[in-house]
Amino acid sequence: MKLIAPSILSADFSRLGEEIAAVEAAGADWIHIDVMDGHFVPNITIGPAVVKSLRKLTRLPFDVHLMVKHPEQFLDAFAEAGSDVITVHVETADHLHRTVTRIRELGPKAGVSLNPGTPLTLIEPILADIDLLLIMTVNPGFSGQQFIRTMLPKIRQARECIDRQAPAVLLEVDGGVTLTNMPSILEAGADVLVAGAAVFSSGDYRATISKMKALIG
Ligand code: DX5
Ligand code: ZN
Repeated sequence: MKLIAPSILSADFSRLGEEIAAVEAAGADWIHIDVMDGHFVPNITIGPAVVKSLRKLTRLPFDVHLMVKHPEQFLDAFAEAGSDVITVHVETADHLHRTVTRIRELGPKAGVSLNPGTPLTLIEPILADIDLLLIMTVNPGFSGQQFIRTMLPKIRQARECIDRQAPAVLLEVDGGVTLTNMPSILEAGADVLVAGAAVFSSGDYRATISKMKALIG
């Protein structure tokens, strides 16, 4: 299963509902929602109240990416707001296994993300206890950044680990994904491709997502 998850971080925030409807109509599979706290990353975005309001507007799964310190404090609120996947950063969770277990207890699928400088080995011990592994291919905080090409071997290694230890885990790649680098990311083994600027800065969402889906095959 290969999926396209537009990140609304690059959408027009004054028209978020319309933007989500537009990418849904254009063929998006998931909506990726970037939550930033101004502490873990140098930017502040949206909270559970906004997620809850958006929930009424689409049936697409909400893929909520928590770039916040102390993520365990916000799990209940984001689950209640209607998140389908909640992803926390390994760098932020003091008791990662407890945190992912709690996410699953609340209902959503549990994801774990690794910053570019964080080794894959940190997630390996509990790979079988998560639903999604998110490899960051930019340093989180902003959309429209350049894809870090040295992450391709890490994506490949993550694919091998998942296939060996926990084949049900989805492998997601987030940051600087474009139509140009998508083939190499897919070849490295990604299942879910997050795309912010590549979708929302393109004039024609339908044309862009169709081209992305054609690359998936
Ligand atoms: C980065 C976010 C990404 C970002 C993706 O901190 O986690 O989801 O919005 O945007 P692009 O695709 O423009 O890099
Ligand atoms: Zn993200």
